Amino acid sequence: MDKMLVRGGKALKGTVHVHGAKNAALPLMAASLLAHEPVTLHNVPCLHDIFSMDKVLSSMGVGIDFTGRSMTLDCTGDIEPFAPYDLVRKMRASFFVLGALLGRFGRAKVSLPGGCAIGTRPVDIHLKGLEQLGAKIEIEDGYVVAEGRMKGANVAMEFPSVGATENLMMAAAVAEGVTRLHNVAREPEIEDLAKMLNAMGAQISGAGTDLITVVGVERLGGVEHVVMPDRIEAGTFLVASVATRGDVLVQNAIADDLPVFLDKLRDAGAEIEVMGNSIRARALNGIKAVDISTRPFPGFATDLQAQMMSLLACANGTSHIKETVFENRFMQAAELIRMGASIDLDGNTAIVRGVDHLSGAPVMASDLRASASLVIAGLMAEKGETAIHRVYHIDRGYERIEERLSALGADIRRVRE
Ligand code: EPZ
Repeated sequence: MDKMLVRGGKALKGTVHVHGAKNAALPLMAASLLAHEPVTLHNVPCLHDIFSMDKVLSSMGVGIDFTGRSMTLDCTGDIEPFAPYDLVRKMRASFFVLGALLGRFGRAKVSLPGGCAIGTRPVDIHLKGLEQLGAKIEIEDGYVVAEGRMKGANVAMEFPSVGATENLMMAAAVAEGVTRLHNVAREPEIEDLAKMLNAMGAQISGAGTDLITVVGVERLGGVEHVVMPDRIEAGTFLVASVATRGDVLVQNAIADDLPVFLDKLRDAGAEIEVMGNSIRARALNGIKAVDISTRPFPGFATDLQAQMMSLLACANGTSHIKETVFENRFMQAAELIRMGASIDLDGNTAIVRGVDHLSGAPVMASDLRASASLVIAGLMAEKGETAIHRVYHIDRGYERIEERLSALGADIRRVRE
């Protein structure tokens, strides 16, 4: 087990390059199951979650060659449509193979993902939608056992679930007839998946809106696809720049992928400059308190909530952060309080009273984005050293973050516990 040691008080300065999006690459890897020829993905991030999905697909018989940032997935051999518990439990997104397996093979046995640190995270919306597309679904010993030929249908999701939208889009792509998916997620990662599926021969329209129409086709072919940049990684570096009163240019950051988030950073007093696919973030003066409510895209991304909480811990005034997407995503609050933050939790709202400064302390990472918020808090702390334990959480979603922050002037290093 590694830990991260951070000594704060240094303004981050320089340029950082954002890698491919974890939350795009994972469903894109799953979508390769639909292809009758090999699929090659470029700009794939080297992250633990990607390695986990590689294991799930390889265990099914998918041939995977992952060299540098390019990954070729070959599903032309014998594929066993089975995703075991010991792999799925490590990463919920493994569940995103279900729709593609049903679409391609008409049967699948996939472990239920179980809960995680940020909530129980059921899959009822996934299963209800797949049943409406013709799947017969049983739950046996913690597994989803599904079979059936996919047939086009009208499906209305009760909540715009990102994963359910991706599972249903993949199943509908090769269903018989037309599918209309209503109240779907509108995240840029959905558009990236639709773009690749269409390049494979699918007929999907409306991705990025709340109604996706899919005309099912017989067969999907191979493709080469470049994974979109990681908007959450971009947002994380932008917050780190502002939180340390720095001046960082984040390259490969698409402003349209972060609409409300950038507005909130500006409302908090940051100077945000958009130059093509780069965004520069500076904090010329102090940080002002702002109120935030996380929402499905294009609202404020829940995956940037924890990072903003660290920034607002030292704002002038009191901020209210409402987490409407997950039921338990304030795990970082208790750790920030140990560093001197003043935060009260009232249901799904965190009341963050700005304090003058944070102080270094030993803290525990609990989930991916909470660990990013603790790194930012450590960079902000003007006194003492912050030791962040269980940094494997951060390695799930950020590549060599300590090297990239050090290149921006941070005093951060990884040590073996
Ligand atoms: C995706 O998770 C992302 N993960 C998450 O990023 C992200 O936080 C989330 O979307 C919301 O934007 C990947 O793309 C791999 P949801 P997903 O289904 O699809 C409830 C990160 O840090 N729900 O949109 O699992 C669910 O409990 C990760 O990179 C149901 O009730 O999220 C949650 O409260 C964390 N029933 C809410 O919807 C369902 O069937 C949003 O979940 C499905 C979801």
